[in-house]
Amino acid sequence: MSKFEDKLREAQKEAQEELAKVDKIKDLEELKAKYLGRRGTITSLLKNLKEAPEESRPALGKLANEVKDQIEGIFKERFEELKIQEPSKEKRAEFFDYTLPGRKSWSGKLHPITQINEKIIEIFYGMGFEVAKGPDVETDHYNFEALNFPKDHPARDMQDTFYIDDEILLRTHTSPVQIRVMEKRKPPVRIIAPGRCYRHEAINARSYCCFHQVEGFYVDTDVTFADLKGVLSAFVWELFGKEVGVRFRGSFFPFTEPSAEMDIACVNCKGKGCGLCKYRGWLEILGAGMIDPEVFKNVGYDPEVYTGYAFGMGVERIAMLKYGIDDIRLFYENDLRFLRQF
Ligand code: DAH
Repeated sequence: MSKFEDKLREAQKEAQEELAKVDKIKDLEELKAKYLGRRGTITSLLKNLKEAPEESRPALGKLANEVKDQIEGIFKERFEELKIQEPSKEKRAEFFDYTLPGRKSWSGKLHPITQINEKIIEIFYGMGFEVAKGPDVETDHYNFEALNFPKDHPARDMQDTFYIDDEILLRTHTSPVQIRVMEKRKPPVRIIAPGRCYRHEAINARSYCCFHQVEGFYVDTDVTFADLKGVLSAFVWELFGKEVGVRFRGSFFPFTEPSAEMDIACVNCKGKGCGLCKYRGWLEILGAGMIDPEVFKNVGYDPEVYTGYAFGMGVERIAMLKYGIDDIRLFYENDLRFLRQF
């Protein structure tokens, strides 16, 4: 056996042994370069063939090509095997099972309070009201004094207040927006004022230290209590459905005279009496009344010329009734299991 043949056989044996150990495509490719690449062992041997004695060259050349083909064959086979065990990106895409159910992606949503807030605004906007806003941090003057709550008035007790100092506080209701708007504008004014309010109350299922109200009012010549009843009834029927019963009960607020509270027939028992309405058949949803002449004087409107109505409602309360939620704190815990339902 010639030296050339020895070397060839040796390379063949070595390549076969090494190939048997390879279990990654990457290693396989390196090994292929080592033997069959441009500077690979077998390629180099073939190049050196011209140094062999002339008469043995054809036989050696044939042998060398056989060895080369054989090794290439093993490489190919091994490559196919590894390709299945270790699929490439493209292969994985080919295996994609289109019949599998898709993964659900969650889309963001508005908070239920924002949704109800927007719904309330939309209904009043449709009846000709414009939106106005006021600051969360208010003065005692706008929150109380100008609304006819003098300093020592017991009605202030109904609204436990977060004071920042003697004159500055977190507004306890959205009614101060009435004053701010009326100071700047002459009638007719027809306003809806949504916003956040704050009260220093014990937190429980029914009350929270921060909540939302929507205030509304209309001032013009000849505005009557009948207008108020008409507008609020239309609002309730739009929000809770046409068949809902409504009623107005006399009440007291310092800034309205006469004052009323509006009830709707219990959304749960439809007026028959249940735990939700405490067997009364009715649920209170807002406070309202004709704007007190004292308030008009405070903003420079002539009470002999103008009349107006006002109303204020709690957005959380309305959302709770509409969605059947029994604990106000749920709105503020941001538990996704709760929020995803809306
Ligand atoms: N501001 C009152 C409150 O927070 C609600 C209210 C009652 C607003 C009567 C009004 C109204 O505009 O006329 O309890």
